[in-house]
Amino acid sequence: MDDWENGGFGIYIHWPFCAAKCPYCDFNSHVRKSVDQSRWLSAICLELKNSAIRTRGRTVNTIFFGGGTPSLMEPETVAGIIKEIAKLWVLALDIEISLEANPTSVEAQKFSDFRKAGINRISMGIQSLRNDDLKALGRMHSVNEARKAFDIAKDNFKRVSFDLIYARQDQSKVDWEIELKEASSMAVDHLSLYQLTIEDGTRFGDLYERGSLKGMPNDSLAADMYDITQEVTLQNDMPAYEISNHAIEGAESRHNLIYWRYGDYIGVGPGAHGRISENGNKIATTTIENPENWLRGVELNGTSTIDDEVINHIDQASEYLMMSLRLIEGVDMERYKKISGVALDNKLIDKNIENGLIKVINNNLIATQRGRIILNTLIKDLLI
Ligand SMILES: C[S@@+](CC[C@H](N)C(=O)[O-])C[C@H]1O[C@@H](n2cnc3c(N)ncnc32)[C@H](O)[C@@H]1O
Ligand code: SF4
Repeated sequence: MDDWENGGFGIYIHWPFCAAKCPYCDFNSHVRKSVDQSRWLSAICLELKNSAIRTRGRTVNTIFFGGGTPSLMEPETVAGIIKEIAKLWVLALDIEISLEANPTSVEAQKFSDFRKAGINRISMGIQSLRNDDLKALGRMHSVNEARKAFDIAKDNFKRVSFDLIYARQDQSKVDWEIELKEASSMAVDHLSLYQLTIEDGTRFGDLYERGSLKGMPNDSLAADMYDITQEVTLQNDMPAYEISNHAIEGAESRHNLIYWRYGDYIGVGPGAHGRISENGNKIATTTIENPENWLRGVELNGTSTIDDEVINHIDQASEYLMMSLRLIEGVDMERYKKISGVALDNKLIDKNIENGLIKVINNNLIATQRGRIILNTLIKDLLI
């Protein structure tokens, strides 16, 4: 068995367009007056063909349409991509095909056509259940509109997740607890709950630097909110299975699990990354980031790949640790050793156990709740 089979095989399609740019967002997303979707469909299909040559004979476990805002795609574009994937690979009988959607009425109208195209899971960016906060986050929908879109999604799909952003400006612990309880009572099977991160190069990043982004929580308040998040979701049978992701048992995002369990995935679309095991090597693939350059690259050169880098065994093991320590199931230390050729340092493990940041169960290294709050520091320490 190849190492990637521990995680599975998935396909990520990046749709880089949005109706407006949110002030906090540093994803590769752009606002364009018009997008020629048939040109994009052809280019995406061409890139899929290139990837299929490198992964022949595999079964696809998951497809994920992410963005940007893939709910702005025409259902025909989505259908065309899924059809092409089905021609090029074998699809798992229980394949998960997710699409990220913004909760506006325009997109909700398309949900039934997305279902007909083959989508079987929706991940909706509701972000907040408070109108003032939606405005502050620069969102184009109201709470009412989001709830309506969510109901339409539920009518069309068995599996519907939604995202909320917390640790927002002027949000108190009690505010968040009440809002999260409301969200939990709405939820179907999955919730993604992210702390607001201030990213360089965004509008919020600029405001923060100038000292003009008022009311952001300090680390201690944000950590308390993280603890509240764990308690409330647990009470509602949606415990965390990853730092920011919560699900009822069996409803975890299988696509994201492929990343966190360090499986293989193809990334198609501007800026999409991939990890492909090929001829005994694990390759990191990188594509052109700018949408127009990506499209021209595929049309003129037959590919948008700008870099294929062989990841050495030590770096593979580090990537595996960084990804899987995010999961509640943790890192399989035997697998780590097999990838790297060297076991993790026992002294470092013992020190972090003593500090209450990790625990070991059945040879799996697991970050505790405290450890997950400072995961990056913990990872750095373990990988010295
Ligand atoms: C790339 S977005 C795509 C979803 C969709 N376009 C939307 O906005 O609803 C995925 C999710 O990342 C989260 N996100 C993006 N930027 C963030 C930030 N700076 N801090 C916290 N969460 C963020 C949001 O919850 C968002 O729903
Ligand atoms: S949060 Fe979503 S809608 Fe807003 S800019 Fe980012 S990708 Fe686009």
